[in-house]
Amino acid sequence: MTPGRLQDPAQLPEDELDVDRSLRPRRLDDFVGQDAVRSQLAVSIEAASGRGEALDHVLLAGPPGLGKTSLAQIIASELGVRFTQTAGPALERKGDVAAILTALEPREVLFVDEIHRLPRALEETFYPAMEDGVLPITVGQGAGARIVTLPLAPFTLIGATTRTGLLTTPLRDRFGIQHRLDHYGAADLARIVARSARLLGVAIDEAGAQAIAARSRGTPRVANRLLRRVRDYAEVRHGGLITDAVAAEALDLLEVDHAGLDRLDREILRAICEKFAGGPVGLSTLAVAVGEEQDTIEDVYEPYLLQRGLIERTPRGRMATARAFSHLGLHPPSQPRLL
Ligand SMILES: Nc1ncnc2c1ncn2[C@@H]1O[C@H](COP(=O)(O)OP(=O)(O)O)[C@@H](O)[C@H]1O
Ligand SMILES: [Mg+2]
Repeated sequence: MTPGRLQDPAQLPEDELDVDRSLRPRRLDDFVGQDAVRSQLAVSIEAASGRGEALDHVLLAGPPGLGKTSLAQIIASELGVRFTQTAGPALERKGDVAAILTALEPREVLFVDEIHRLPRALEETFYPAMEDGVLPITVGQGAGARIVTLPLAPFTLIGATTRTGLLTTPLRDRFGIQHRLDHYGAADLARIVARSARLLGVAIDEAGAQAIAARSRGTPRVANRLLRRVRDYAEVRHGGLITDAVAAEALDLLEVDHAGLDRLDREILRAICEKFAGGPVGLSTLAVAVGEEQDTIEDVYEPYLLQRGLIERTPRGRMATARAFSHLGLHPPSQPRLL
């Protein structure tokens, strides 16, 4: 795996998952950054707890590795309730959903990761559960069939999604609380690196933490991964301490560049700039050109490249900006292109 590389957590190797778990913030106060989201959630949590009610359903959106799962777990622990986790693609039959819903304790948090991948037919099972706290089930068959409505314990559904655009409006509308997590700024990421270093017992100075933060593509999971790779390098080559010089050397070796772009980021840019003369190029064509899944490009790579102003999305496809050409040391095409 490319070191700076972000992946679907479902595809993370087991040791990465363990580290992810051990570094996960447990309380709202440990959760760095995203101040607006954090303070709004604190109010919602306190109000629900004060009334002894289940918290309203929460939708958390944003690219992978920004803290959606962490926040869901934090919400449950701040509420002092049980946390149950499942994922959209894991739910296949109506019976799966019914089994989970009927086993919920009062005020429990049910976390559904990748909720945009929930089969459409199952979405409808969630509607009455979310809205009225009931589960209608069909008993019997044919002419004798009838619908029985089971009451459910009041619960909080927390849905996480990398792409709100893929959620149907009726489902989205049933979440009373909706938050979007954005890429982190350098100062927040440096705090996250320092915190993780402390938890892992890694020696690092402030400039070292900042150097790793600057190249972590705004993503805590990437920051934590780079920290561990840089630690290996610092131990083997420099006796342990991570300074900015050591971090820079290690990150160059890992092919993470100054903008925090990894090899695939650069391949995507290079493909648009060189193979497709700056674009526009359709996502599926681009995916074939770089040998990566379309979803991965759209969920993981594109948001950061867009945010850095390196690419643009147009109705006809993705285009490289002048900044992308200069990042790669290329000359932009001189002819103005018509969109
Ligand atoms: N705000 C944050 N403060 C500290 N660590 C964070 C924060 N957000 C994410 N992390 C770290 O990044 C890792 C990935 O976060 P996670 O919640 O799994 O992201 P997501 O579910 O959005 O993919 C976590 O294990 C945690 O260590
Ligand atoms: Mg997650």
